[in-house]
Amino acid sequence: MSGQNPPMRVIAIDGPAGSGKSTVARALAKRLSLKYLDTGAMYRAVAFAVLRAGGDPGDAEFTSATARLVDLDIGLDRVMVDGVDATVEIRGPEVSRAVSAVAANSEVRKELVSRQREWAVRQGGGVLEGRDIGTVVFPDAELKVYLTADPEERARRRAREMTDLDYEQVAADIARRDALDTTRAADPLVEAADATVVNTTDLDIDEVVATITRLLDGEASS
Ligand code: DC
Repeated sequence: MSGQNPPMRVIAIDGPAGSGKSTVARALAKRLSLKYLDTGAMYRAVAFAVLRAGGDPGDAEFTSATARLVDLDIGLDRVMVDGVDATVEIRGPEVSRAVSAVAANSEVRKELVSRQREWAVRQGGGVLEGRDIGTVVFPDAELKVYLTADPEERARRRAREMTDLDYEQVAADIARRDALDTTRAADPLVEAADATVVNTTDLDIDEVVATITRLLDGEASS
């Protein structure tokens, strides 16, 4: 008996809003028979819990205490927060406005990063998408992909998803969140030095997934 566990297979998919992370990460997880975790949904779920409790997401102590105590169940198609179905609300404008302050809170990040690592150990690995997976959560991931796309294309994609918002509103929200994500002090959005950058502006989902699969195959044979 060797007593050694098989190595965990972790794929990190990072990048800004609208770069195609969720769709690509889900498809990749399915193809590789791995579990998928949307870590952005965790930050959104904490923002939801703070708002639901009548708190202010800018109140660092209240928000970090909420993150430590909240019961999160981040499923493939459903997000439960303290037993309440928050799947729709976490994508709504109120949570989208509040989430940047939550994600900038270093105590919240510490708590969620630790839950993300525990999740991967429990699942025996997985495909995780977010902003800091390759840089902070799993710096030793088997493959790190940084997805990007032109801001106009990212806004067009988001505007198509959100039928109640027009392009200008979405473009402004994406620009605001890009600025906050990249300039915050705690784990800002940045490409890991060893990440492969994939620009998805002119690629469809299948092409992106095929590109990533080739990267994985290439690594296996090298
Ligand atoms: O990917 P998204 O738009 O659902 O992410 C919501 C927010 O959470 C966004 O402001 C970036 C932040 N986030 C983060 O800071 N770190 C992660 N690993 C995932 C998301």
